[in-house]
Amino acid sequence: MKIGIIGLGKMGSALLRGIVNCGLCCPADIVASDPLLPERDSNPEYCGVRTCKDNSAAIKDADLVILAVKPQAFQSAAASMAHQVKDQLFVSIIAGLSIASLKKRLGPKARIIRVMPNTPVLIQQGVSALAWDSMVSESDLELVKNIFLQLGEVVKVEEKLMDGVTALSGSGPAYVYVLIEALADGGVLAGLPRDLAQQLAMLTVQGAAGMVELGKHPAELKDMVASPAGTTIAGLAALEANGFRSALIEAVRAAAQRAKELDDAY
Ligand SMILES: NC(=O)c1ccc[n+]([C@@H]2O[C@H](COP(=O)([O-])OP(=O)(O)OC[C@H]3O[C@@H](n4cnc5c(N)ncnc54)[C@H](OP(=O)(O)O)[C@@H]3O)[C@@H](O)[C@H]2O)c1
Repeated sequence: MKIGIIGLGKMGSALLRGIVNCGLCCPADIVASDPLLPERDSNPEYCGVRTCKDNSAAIKDADLVILAVKPQAFQSAAASMAHQVKDQLFVSIIAGLSIASLKKRLGPKARIIRVMPNTPVLIQQGVSALAWDSMVSESDLELVKNIFLQLGEVVKVEEKLMDGVTALSGSGPAYVYVLIEALADGGVLAGLPRDLAQQLAMLTVQGAAGMVELGKHPAELKDMVASPAGTTIAGLAALEANGFRSALIEAVRAAAQRAKELDDAY
């Protein structure tokens, strides 16, 4: 199978590594295009694949095309390869853009699987949500699922849920980074050295996620740590007084709204 990757930024290059590592196809069968890339037949910086600036060269012989450009760049990327669109399977990780909007630029015959990964795919601990159009076959879906399984967990969703997925798991790592940073700031305020505070904050988030993974409801786990008149309930009361819960709910709502706006602009 031949693969073309359009846009070799953070996500495009993470996918490239996943594809090469799982042995799905060899580097000689992959061409990646990006305006910043040097023209190389075998680029050692990118797993030995061919890199170029010309999008149509990347999709010309491809069976599978991965679209990994920013939403604002899709229109020009699509225009530059329109004459090479045949019966390729397209995988789009572009935030916000619906399958209908992608088809407007790629043509009605394009088979499209829309995927929303998150940045922990860079360390094979991501989660990727897949939605697809009616022209996609079971084998297309299995193929793409197997690529993203190299980079973490995979869930299948209806396309109408994609804005919510984008806002929660796509954007979510950024919220957790702010959480870790703020916890560490609190630790420093309580007298801890910065390094120790950050390490404790990170390990606390990691450990707490592991406890949730065991299957108990987060509220039950929270109640288990909050003893009467103890330190944790004092901290929890301060969180409630400062709108911690509603800030997170509003963050997800705002991001979902923004994802919708990105598509409306098309
Ligand atoms: N990062 C995330 O957490 C995340 C999560 C889920 C989905 N996504 C989505 O994944 C996509 C890529 O995100 P990213 O974080 O990997 O962005 P990125 O690092 O900026 O990568 C995008 C790459 O595409 C290149 N590009 C721009 N215009 C192009 C064109 N016309 N043809 C070919 N390549 C072009 C860019 O080059 P220039 O630098 O020259 O513009 C850049 O190297 C976005 O749509 C984003 O919404 C990102």
